[in-house]
Amino acid sequence: MKQIAIIPGDGIGVDVTREAVKVLEQAQKVYDFKLKMNHFDWSADKYLSEGISLPEGAMDMFRNEYDAIYVGAFGDPRVPDMKHAADILLGLRFGLDLYINLRPVKLLHDSLTPLKSRTQKDINFIVFRENTEGMYVNIGGNFKKGTPDEIAIQEDMNTRKGVERIIVAAFEYAKEHGRKRLTMADKSNVLRYGHDLWQRAFTEIATRYPDIESNTQFVDAVTMWMVLKPDQYEVIVTNNMFGDIITDLGAALQGGLGMAASGNIHPGKVSLFEPVHGSAPKYAGKNVTNPIGAILTAAMMLEYVGHNQAANGIEQAVIKALAAGKMTRDLGGSLSTTETGDVIASLLG
Ligand code: IPM
Ligand code: MN
Repeated sequence: MKQIAIIPGDGIGVDVTREAVKVLEQAQKVYDFKLKMNHFDWSADKYLSEGISLPEGAMDMFRNEYDAIYVGAFGDPRVPDMKHAADILLGLRFGLDLYINLRPVKLLHDSLTPLKSRTQKDINFIVFRENTEGMYVNIGGNFKKGTPDEIAIQEDMNTRKGVERIIVAAFEYAKEHGRKRLTMADKSNVLRYGHDLWQRAFTEIATRYPDIESNTQFVDAVTMWMVLKPDQYEVIVTNNMFGDIITDLGAALQGGLGMAASGNIHPGKVSLFEPVHGSAPKYAGKNVTNPIGAILTAAMMLEYVGHNQAANGIEQAVIKALAAGKMTRDLGGSLSTTETGDVIASLLG
């Protein structure tokens, strides 16, 4: 039986995780399998009352005892420096070496995209965001902090191994999933050291995959083409920061942040799944949030732990709910968060 940690976190993370768990419970009945789900109350509340963000020993516990971790969202205005979120989310990404941030951009109903005259066939790609390096490593410092002469340095770390493994992961995915084209988004015209490394690694690795058409584009152009001609993309591979940015744009293309799923993956090891959206504190507890991104994230997690049929069934149930107009207000529907979860659970199988 697969061992799953459930961490609802803060704000709407709690609301959407409840629906994701509801769908996971129903999927177990319909597809006849069992998960062991353990809940953890790590959140801003816990951090503020007990001073604990990621408890000691948590990393080893996940490494040794768990197959996957499901996270709702982190972020709370009472913790302005996001210390608990950084400790938990970034802590797990780095600590568990979850080097692939996998973010599908897939339109599940034509009405949801803000792009005029684009349909489901035009918007269906997946982003491989490097997840353990780049500007996220927090290497840098201040000099003369707080004075008019202040200097702040924030390094962008790119290692040969790190760059290679995410590019290889993207090519392997393309090969396994019958995707014919792979695009790298970089900024090698300006970042002559870091992204020159990406260019060299990409060119070299691409020769091993002659059946996949590969190309590279500068990331500024990618943001333009994602809007003007999204159908050209099948798989995009990019660094940590660019991946963060373009996947919010990708979320918008598929109906908004409420629709976007994501996985933080190290193949063969315990991996973490979280919707792309944040904790949206002003909607917390109001039962209005769109749970679909969270539910699709649960499906990604099921696929990762080997329950492919259930994962696919959840996506189909979401598609059916959308086709029937059964959705939350952000998508033009009238359902609450809990009603949306109920509908999707009932459409399984
Ligand atoms: C994301 C988020 C995170 C990131 C934040 C919350 C640290 O924006 O998962 O996309 O920048 O990676
Ligand atoms: Mn982001």
